[in-house]
Amino acid sequence: MKQVTITRRARFNAAHKLWNEGWSEEKNFEVFGKCANHNWHGHNYEVFVTVRGTIDESTGYFMNFTELKALIQEYVEEPLDHKNLNLDVPWLFGKQTSVENLVIGIWEQLEPHLAKSGCVLERVRLYETENNYADYYGES
Ligand code: NI
Repeated sequence: MKQVTITRRARFNAAHKLWNEGWSEEKNFEVFGKCANHNWHGHNYEVFVTVRGTIDESTGYFMNFTELKALIQEYVEEPLDHKNLNLDVPWLFGKQTSVENLVIGIWEQLEPHLAKSGCVLERVRLYETENNYADYYGES
């Protein structure tokens, strides 16, 4: 069977800081640098959600982009956009709000809903800056 992937992009803006409560202030700044700024800093995040499936010949696709867009809006953009990732997002509580942890969290939020639609989540790619991004492919 021929399988294809489709990818939907979404964007959100959010604030965060990297901080380890178990460390001294000095060590936090030594490890995290300006990412440890007490009064937060922001990023314009860009997320690419890729799903895989087999084309239904009657439609020519396996998942309507509108459906994918709606799931990303509900489970990624609404909970994260214009939020403080450290304080406002329950599924990030107790974790560092690094791009790595965030991409895993986004996967975990989306995957059950995509599975319900009969789709396989292939990859989530999250850009924290133009030059830095993380990929997650699920647990191996
Ligand atoms: Ni940052």
